[in-house]
Amino acid sequence: MKELSRRDLMIRGTGLGMGLVGVMLSVPAIGFLLSPLFTKQRTAWVTVGVIDDIPVNTPTPLVAQVPVGTGYPTPPVPRVVYVVKKPSGETLALSNICTHMQCDVHWDPALGNFLCPCHGGLYDIDGKNVGGPPPQPLAQWNKRFHSDAQGRTVLEIENVLDESI
Ligand code: FES
Repeated sequence: MKELSRRDLMIRGTGLGMGLVGVMLSVPAIGFLLSPLFTKQRTAWVTVGVIDDIPVNTPTPLVAQVPVGTGYPTPPVPRVVYVVKKPSGETLALSNICTHMQCDVHWDPALGNFLCPCHGGLYDIDGKNVGGPPPQPLAQWNKRFHSDAQGRTVLEIENVLDESI
């Protein structure tokens, strides 16, 4: 077996040292890249508005300022919430984001459906996809209600969408 010269030892030692430095530098970078996978989104409840005057079976768009992100404070984002009061007394808080390619849908009274202008996707009054390319229903916001000082019903949503409908 050939003995290693001092020069060979130095070359190998330098290579090993540089490899270790590379590994040490890459660990924080990998952690930074993977951290969003393990960071839970901060949840918050935001007021959408008073809903007493919204008629039954008339999807009505309201706008909520919804916080986004996982940790650092960022400006809230205005999001449209379609409030749908059902004859049964149930109230839905639907997202207006199409489940096909995320265009904004709107309620079309003439069609009696939500219409997506991008590719003609249709959703019924409950947000169920009933025509065109959308693969699933409109998402619903997690919601809750409270009475204000005047006894009116106020809708609040959490900055979490329920996509499992
Ligand atoms: S983005 Fe809505 S139908 Fe395509």
